[in-house]
Amino acid sequence: MSVLRLDCTKCDRTYAPGAVLNLCTTCDAPLFARYDLERAAKTLRREALATRDRSMWRYHEVLPVADPAQRLSLGEGWTPLLATPRLAARLGMKQVWVKDESGNPTGSFKARGLSAAVSMAKVLGAKAVCLPSAGNAGSALAAYAARGGLEAHVFVPRDIASLFLLETRAYGAHVETVDGLITDAGKVCAGLAREHGWYECATLKEPYRVEGKKTMGYEVAEQLGWTLPDVILYPTGGGTGLIGMWKAFEEMEAMGLIDSKRPRMVAVQAEGCAPIVKAHEEGRPDAPMWQGATTHAHGLRVPKALGDFLILRAVKESGGTAVCVTEAEIVQGTKDLASAEGLFAAPEGGACVAALRKLHASGQVTPEESVVVFNTGTGFKYVENMAPLW
Ligand SMILES: Cc1ncc(COP(=O)(O)O)c(C=O)c1O
Repeated sequence: MSVLRLDCTKCDRTYAPGAVLNLCTTCDAPLFARYDLERAAKTLRREALATRDRSMWRYHEVLPVADPAQRLSLGEGWTPLLATPRLAARLGMKQVWVKDESGNPTGSFKARGLSAAVSMAKVLGAKAVCLPSAGNAGSALAAYAARGGLEAHVFVPRDIASLFLLETRAYGAHVETVDGLITDAGKVCAGLAREHGWYECATLKEPYRVEGKKTMGYEVAEQLGWTLPDVILYPTGGGTGLIGMWKAFEEMEAMGLIDSKRPRMVAVQAEGCAPIVKAHEEGRPDAPMWQGATTHAHGLRVPKALGDFLILRAVKESGGTAVCVTEAEIVQGTKDLASAEGLFAAPEGGACVAALRKLHASGQVTPEESVVVFNTGTGFKYVENMAPLW
């Protein structure tokens, strides 16, 4: 195993890797995997990467699962970072890139985290895995479980677009629809996981999804010639990608791959569910539960994130911000990306385009700054719930 130890993100407890562990047993906070970065730096060199796999596993020194034969892979990661000049012009910007995650297996960035997490679940001896999901994580869990011959259980809000159900079930997973939001689905999932001994892969409840997601940070740096942009906009539900990228930058600097310059991290949320935005504006270290959460960008409909304090810390340390957009702005952002650049994005990606428009208008992002916008998934799966808004 390439992981040296697991550190609590809140207290100073550390854990040996190799055990089935969810949260810190002292303070219930997420755990971070730590590696021997000095050793990793000897082989994870810029030149060496040129000939490696065009998948997230190209950064294997800083990923769990040392043995390639134990990696459950469908070709996740190494997605394009597209220069988008027409979109940039429309937004009054000079340089906007879109990190387009829609081409991942199962159509979203969730493939990265779940390739890592389900691989580790199998390595640790799990026979069944489970999580609550807004849709994309569920289908990714199911696909990687199928790939590894594991049983999968997925819990989703009842109003999920039907394609997600069909797809997730096609991979052989058991899918249960739950009244309410992802947090309600999470409670049902956690209860049954305890009862049946399933390995829980809920966001940040196990330490390896964030490891897969952090590869987005490695890729942005590598694709920009080992520099980072001035600003990164990321659609934030549970925030794993933002937290993961922030962790990645620290690792990359420690290994001498980048310098100390960091992008301003922008957490993008929907007006109908903006706990991180509210907490950021109030200068709080964590985000209380958002009441009455609603948005058609279901990945953003997360009223309470386990890693809220990690998201807020990264945003603050980076000098970034948190911003919310309306449903109409999300639709407009999605249409802008489609009509200007030919990318049919998930509404979460559209939200980031809309947020950039807002930040440009308020002067928080200036036209000369380089910006990376994340499109985290394909728009195809959302047609049913987005169509009434178009
Ligand atoms: C397409 C899409 N974008 C963004 C998110 C939010 O991701 P995170 O939980 O990493 O903040 C989700 C989560 O379901 C999603 O499906």
